Amino acid sequence: MANLSVNFAGIKAPNPFWLASGPPSNSAVQVMKAFDYGWGGAVWKTIGAPVINVSSRYSGVNWGKKRLVGLSNIELISDRSVSDNLKEIEMVKKQFPHHPVIASVMVQTKEEWIRIIQDCQNAGVDGIELNFGCPHGMCERGMGSAVGQEPRLVELITGWVTEEAKVPVIVKLTPNITDITEPASAASRGGADAISLINTIKCITGVDLDTFVPYPMVDHKSTHGGYSGPAVKPIALNMVKNCALDPHVGIPVSGIGGIETWRDAVEFILLGAGSVQICTAVMHHGFGIIRQLTDGLSRYMDEKGFCCVDAMVGKALSNVTEWENLNLNYKVVAEIDEEKCTRCQLCYTACNEGAYQAISLAPDSRIPVIDKNRCVGCNLCSLICPVDHCISMIPGGDANGVETWKHKMGK
Ligand SMILES: Cc1cc2nc3c(=O)[nH]c(=O)nc-3n(C[C@H](O)[C@H](O)[C@H](O)COP(=O)(O)O)c2cc1C
Ligand code: SF4
Ligand code: SF4
Repeated sequence: MANLSVNFAGIKAPNPFWLASGPPSNSAVQVMKAFDYGWGGAVWKTIGAPVINVSSRYSGVNWGKKRLVGLSNIELISDRSVSDNLKEIEMVKKQFPHHPVIASVMVQTKEEWIRIIQDCQNAGVDGIELNFGCPHGMCERGMGSAVGQEPRLVELITGWVTEEAKVPVIVKLTPNITDITEPASAASRGGADAISLINTIKCITGVDLDTFVPYPMVDHKSTHGGYSGPAVKPIALNMVKNCALDPHVGIPVSGIGGIETWRDAVEFILLGAGSVQICTAVMHHGFGIIRQLTDGLSRYMDEKGFCCVDAMVGKALSNVTEWENLNLNYKVVAEIDEEKCTRCQLCYTACNEGAYQAISLAPDSRIPVIDKNRCVGCNLCSLICPVDHCISMIPGGDANGVETWKHKMGK
């Protein structure tokens, strides 16, 4: 079995799979159960001045037969006191000295930050995560994403914390911003040891068509929530990649957002994440998903010959470039496996009405036929075809050599 242990920004853990700050990491009972199941670490539910939460606080997006492709929440930070939470963290650390517990914190003034950092350290935490990401409720009070959207504040507060902290400091970023590398570099300038992303994305999941109130409803009113779960993964992957590639960031990245399977986790690692954090999938399926996460990662690493997680980090980054560097002469063409085709005609409709009119139907058999000269290789038909491996995109080679937009512009 491959060695899954990681040393993420100085925080050692038996594996890269950590509970993200949220409901699954809200108490000692839960975190200890998670460690018993095999989780590698836990970022505690954010602590600070205790809040009052609203009742009715989640809503979901279902897609086809799949429930909770996206989850929206309007929950705030912990509703229990800092001291109650820290007592529980201390208890967990005594039982699990080799499993990192990271305190997620969110307060306002410099004095409050210094005090809470000291208290967390006295409780034995292995690291501190600064929650600059929460996009609902707390930002109205000048915290969470209100800080994460303002690089100057990110740098300032990170500086207050890193001056005081004796354990690694991770800055958790909000995706509700145009360029994620700006707050990421600000965290780095403030002395952060690492960044984690993404926190949730502002959203409204739907509106009740009878009452006209969006979800989730709180006494006939609603507000925007924070979106998480599988639907946010592509956005998170892109932001992790942007941070991992930016030399001004230059610190380790913990990847978060929509991770459910070991494959999702590997994708984050290949795009530069040194550890991954998971919240919604645990809320949905429970701590037991750790088995497929660790088994799958381990098998993959053995298969590919990776000695350790570190050797995988960022392996896909050299294959990411700007659009202007892509080869304009490269061409793929759709090819249909007639044996597999069920003649559902979905590809025919898609290509004719939504793409390039390159598919016709054979008059006798009604099997779709590709006009290779009209096919631009957009991939649409292969994405739509409900039969696995029925439509393949075949590379036609780049007989004319490599030519990019950058070349064309003489750059
Ligand atoms: C119900 C809920 C509560 C959350 N609470 C916190 C929190 O207290 N602190 C924090 O930093 N992130 C919090 N998050 C955000 C998650 O840690 C994570 O960044 C986000 O959900 C994306 O990951 P996921 O798709 O694996 O859930 C919360 C998420 C959910 C769904
Ligand atoms: S790849 Fe695009 S253009 Fe080519 S056949 Fe399919 S849908 Fe049509
Ligand atoms: S979508 Fe797939 S199965 Fe349906 S007609 Fe096209 S090739 Fe055949």
